[in-house]
Amino acid sequence: MPRKIIIDTDPGQDDAVAILLALASPELEVLALTAVAGNVPLPLTQKNARTIVQLAGHQTPVYAGCDAPLKRTLVTAEYVHGKTGLDGIPLPDPTHPLQDQHAVDYLIDTLRAHPAGTITLCPLGPLTNIATAFQRAPDIIPRVAEIVLMGGGCFEGGNITPAAEFNIYVDPEAADIVFKSGVPLVVMPLDVTHKALTSRAWVEEMRALGTPVGQAVASWTDFFERFDTAKYGSEGAPLHDPCVIAYLLEPALFTGRHINVEIETGSELTLGMTVADWWRVSGREPNAMFMGGVDRDGFYRLLTERLGRL
Ligand code: RIB
Ligand code: CA
Repeated sequence: MPRKIIIDTDPGQDDAVAILLALASPELEVLALTAVAGNVPLPLTQKNARTIVQLAGHQTPVYAGCDAPLKRTLVTAEYVHGKTGLDGIPLPDPTHPLQDQHAVDYLIDTLRAHPAGTITLCPLGPLTNIATAFQRAPDIIPRVAEIVLMGGGCFEGGNITPAAEFNIYVDPEAADIVFKSGVPLVVMPLDVTHKALTSRAWVEEMRALGTPVGQAVASWTDFFERFDTAKYGSEGAPLHDPCVIAYLLEPALFTGRHINVEIETGSELTLGMTVADWWRVSGREPNAMFMGGVDRDGFYRLLTERLGRL
């Protein structure tokens, strides 16, 4: 029985690879993509989500959600992902339609309609849609089987400020709601994703697939690598969001600890920091399986095998 998931996303080239990995994997049933403002504004993230579904030759419904954080002005990342959010390869405008229903209403209705504990939420961007759904319909919170998200950092620090990772930083109040919700949480922070670096060899493996998907993944990686390799001086770039889907497929690729993680929402200096109690010194209740390590070669082997199926 495939695991039912909803991917909440702000594509973003790395979101795109995560979505393709999920669509290529029969162990997962992707009920829908819910788009949120993040890497680029909502009109682009919803359009990119539709483009990615169409590239995969699937019919997965796409819903547009929140266009701004709960309380703050939207911060975007065109400097990483380009003006369209999917720079690297020109793709035709999607004909795959956008659903009329708001993503937050879709999340609420779907979690109410399915048996409790049967849907996993996979947020790959700011947590605004998830938090809004939880605020508007608290009854759905215990119905969520698990949340597996990309966000935060511990020993790796931050990537948009010294203290904060982008997804959490954009909407720290939303992250606070999700991390305090009591839903079983698996967190893929920069501590993991900075070990999941692309390589020239892997990008050329993608290009050598000789498929539209392989070409797109290679071109997207070439594009977004330029920023990270300049910043970190590494050969490759961190493929953040696919770590979420890879965990669902092969959890043994990852190692981590069940610890307490809280979100800074007050201090401007450390706003959006995931205060991860890795050494369990706070005495605060553990609320998240916070990942720290990944089998990088196993991760890329899985990616290559699955993307080769599309
Ligand atoms: O900090 C990395 C995260 O921010 C990734 O999800 C990337 O797509 C952006 O959303
Ligand atoms: Ca993302």
